[in-house]
Amino acid sequence: MCPPAHFKVTYSINPWMDPSKPVDLRLALAQWEDLRDRYRALGHTVEVLEPQPGLPDMVFAANGAIVVDGRVLGARFAHPQRAAEAAIHRAWFRENGWTEVQEPLHINEGEGDFAVTDTWLLAGRGFRSSPLSHPEAQEFFGRPVIGLDLVDPRYYHLDTALSVLGGDEIMYYPPAFSPGSRAVLARLFPDALIAEEADAASLGLNAVSDGLHVLLPQPAAGLFAPLRDRGYEPIGIDLSELLKGGGSVKCATLELRLA
Ligand code: ARG
Repeated sequence: MCPPAHFKVTYSINPWMDPSKPVDLRLALAQWEDLRDRYRALGHTVEVLEPQPGLPDMVFAANGAIVVDGRVLGARFAHPQRAAEAAIHRAWFRENGWTEVQEPLHINEGEGDFAVTDTWLLAGRGFRSSPLSHPEAQEFFGRPVIGLDLVDPRYYHLDTALSVLGGDEIMYYPPAFSPGSRAVLARLFPDALIAEEADAASLGLNAVSDGLHVLLPQPAAGLFAPLRDRGYEPIGIDLSELLKGGGSVKCATLELRLA
């Protein structure tokens, strides 16, 4: 995770970002600290990346890499405003003892567009990550990649429209995907939790699950009961300030999946 010390909305690279709307930086920091403390209280280790001035979106750490089996595929950002974040993430991994760190050839925004299930690597395309990043990730991780076409600009990253709950169980919002991709998801995940529009629109799918606890945006309350029915424990998190940048719980969290 990376604290939102320099967070602001000065440019707009997704429909959530309105530079004319003020951000309360103190509140953003307090909300971020609350998320970090929740993870720690649940027994998870949180590594903290040093925020850099001039990179206001660095708080969205999920975009900096994708990590599976202890192997790190770095990011390459679609927009110049975030380009410099990629090298900072790679340097962090190298300095912290990760030996398999690859700089990618093709544009990919890390876990923003890659989701890991037991069987597959789900990969979004359409707004940010290049379709060419999908075979690149498949080759690097040796896991089958399922390419999914995102069609609604509000759901510009896969992790705004789909979340892995555990194993091969997911929740998602079908209208964010092309008809063909919806059919693929229905075929692979016939028992998925299907989100309603209101919960998707409060970025309720931008969630992090440890297999039991599901941390998700507090306003997405419609997801709580269906999650409980499936044996999960939903934990609502208020990240109202980060939402102004177009991200929430998952965007702020890069998962370090060890070998
Ligand atoms: N403002 C950031 C951007 O548009 C938000 C990124 C959100 N991250 C995510 N994993 N969806 O790039």
